Amino acid sequence: MVAKTPSESLTVLTDLVLPSETNPLNNLFGGELLARMDRAASIAARRHSRRIVVTASVNHVAFNRAIPLGSVVTVEAKVSRSFKSSMEIFIDVWIEDRESGQRNKANEAIYTFVAVDDTGRPVEVPPIKPETELEIQRFEAALRRKQLSLVLAGKMKPSEATELKAIFND
Ligand SMILES: CC(C)(COP(=O)(O)OP(=O)(O)OC[C@H]1O[C@@H](n2cnc3c(N)ncnc32)[C@H](O)[C@@H]1OP(=O)(O)O)[C@@H](O)C(=O)NCCC(=O)NCCS
Repeated sequence: MVAKTPSESLTVLTDLVLPSETNPLNNLFGGELLARMDRAASIAARRHSRRIVVTASVNHVAFNRAIPLGSVVTVEAKVSRSFKSSMEIFIDVWIEDRESGQRNKANEAIYTFVAVDDTGRPVEVPPIKPETELEIQRFEAALRRKQLSLVLAGKMKPSEATELKAIFND
């Protein structure tokens, strides 16, 4: 299979925060943001694999900043690394200042998607070739995150997570 670049999967979703999507503090409800991120990540995974894709795990979410009612929120998702059938998707969330138009980073998340056939069985996905410095950084750390996710899911023995263990020995 021919390698693709992360930018080929780039997916950008921009939307407002409406009253029905907020918590009692009038900030965006966390579950609503998770759904928006899942949607963007799913499109990115589909663009990379051109297959049916399913969410296998949510590896990391950082709700660093509250997102107030009325904000314009942009969710940007890109495949950061592909393995055999799974893909790590990195998601950056930005809020746009109403007056200046400047974008500020609000949150980020990392999801894992798996490409499957019509019967739900995992299928191979194209390799990925990171280009920018940030894409290379995210690509290099992705294997450790995959191992951590598999260990937490009880699908890998900690003793087999070689790359993950190595960071504790540095
Ligand atoms: C995700 C799913 C296809 C994995 O199927 P499986 O039978 O466990 O298949 P495998 O063990 O061969 O795993 C397939 C790939 O997923 C990866 N994977 C599975 N669970 C994972 C996890 N928790 N974290 C990271 N990667 C995971 C495996 O490492 C493997 O990756 P690779 O092929 O790139 O090496 C299956 O569990 C599934 O269909 N889950 C439901 C998905 C869904 O409905 N999501 C929406 C939830 S509402």
